[in-house]
Amino acid sequence: MDRYLVRPGAPLSGTVRASGMTKNAGLKQMAAALLAPGTTVLHNITPVDDLDMMIELLGAIGADAAWDRDDTLRVDVPERLVPEAPYELVSKMRASINVLGPLLARTGRARVAMPGGDNIGSRKLDMHFDALAAMGVELTVVHGYIEAQCNALCGARVVLDFPSVGATETVLTSAALAKGESVIENAAREPEVVDLAEMLTEMGAHIEGAGSSTIRIEGVDELAAVERSIVGDRVEAGTLMMACAAAGGDITVEGIALSDLETVGRKLVEMGVEVIPLPDGVRVRRDGRITAVDVQTLPFPGFATDFMPLAVAALATADGTAVVTENIFDNRFAFVDEMNRMGADIRTEGRHAVVRGVLRLSGAPVRAHDVRAGAALVLAGLAAEGESEVLAPHHVDRGYPDLPAKLRALGADVERIPG
Ligand code: EPU
Repeated sequence: MDRYLVRPGAPLSGTVRASGMTKNAGLKQMAAALLAPGTTVLHNITPVDDLDMMIELLGAIGADAAWDRDDTLRVDVPERLVPEAPYELVSKMRASINVLGPLLARTGRARVAMPGGDNIGSRKLDMHFDALAAMGVELTVVHGYIEAQCNALCGARVVLDFPSVGATETVLTSAALAKGESVIENAAREPEVVDLAEMLTEMGAHIEGAGSSTIRIEGVDELAAVERSIVGDRVEAGTLMMACAAAGGDITVEGIALSDLETVGRKLVEMGVEVIPLPDGVRVRRDGRITAVDVQTLPFPGFATDFMPLAVAALATADGTAVVTENIFDNRFAFVDEMNRMGADIRTEGRHAVVRGVLRLSGAPVRAHDVRAGAALVLAGLAAEGESEVLAPHHVDRGYPDLPAKLRALGADVERIPG
């Protein structure tokens, strides 16, 4: 089996550039390209495993997505689409649900298998479905497929129970071509949602308020294909910042806006890490042991759930005890048992983890269960004595173009060993 080999070394140092946010922004924008016939070109997009699946999925729908250059992807969208997203592709990737809105908007029909993705909680779709029903869509789930159809999408006022990223994106892409005005109340405010709204606006959509809790969309008759760059990957950048908190050092991450990482930056400062904003990124410095601080995950601009396992990796060797509360997903602590195998002292109770900082972790073979959990185990390995092996690195590859290479550029000793 493939694995990452992680050896502790000198404190991290150097400068790296964040990749484009391929998994949580790029995949959604590839799906949004379906809204306009013609050629959409996306720059600053980097290959991760989920992207190949989205290329295949778009192919099944009748579009042709292919690499132009290393960081540029072209999506050719025909006039006629096949409104069917098959189980083999959709079952592996949560972002496949993002084809639902565009297919309904373009064809009035969609048959999309229920999506899969990381096993971090129940991941329901009720808010997507309720919003589409309010917009005039008849929708049922039969034999594992979402079957949806409408005569015409109609603008509607949608009040989300929770600021769901996915549901906000589904309404945005459906409402862009609907008849009349739509309003999303309690909308997600994540930078990835804002980047999608910016893409739609560049395509000709009329959208106001993206980045706030109320988004207004006035439907238009048609959209046009665009060429654009996707936002920098704040989760990859935050991962490297947490790596510095875990392993110590002095690093600079370029290509991101610290405002997209403000809560992570503030938590790091509370831990005793220096965080210095730069015009095109952030410098992070840590010398000595960090202090334990409590963390609770919240929708943006709160502390993102995707950073939680990474924060736990840093807190595992902090001075003191931290209480970490996960409010977004109901099963995101599975990695804790693996970290405890490395000598961490973490106990979980429902949505809470009590992390008692130990002086040192000890390297061990451990297994990644999902993308951020796998990255967190790599970070723990950097702070451990002796060698660690992180098995099942394909989970990490779903979201990070090449995490070992990014860490090696900062002087860490991490490599991928083929099975
Ligand atoms: N939820 C419902 N009903 C719905 C939709 C969501 O109950 O109709 C619940 C979910 O079960 C979950 C919570 O609401 O408990 C949040 O879900 P949300 O819809 O906000 O998340 P998502 O769109 O499924 C995206 C990212 C996740 C990231 C979350 C939160 C992608 C492909 N995934 O998921 O990314 O954690 O937003 O920011 O964009 C990751 O990168 O590791 C990752 C899991």
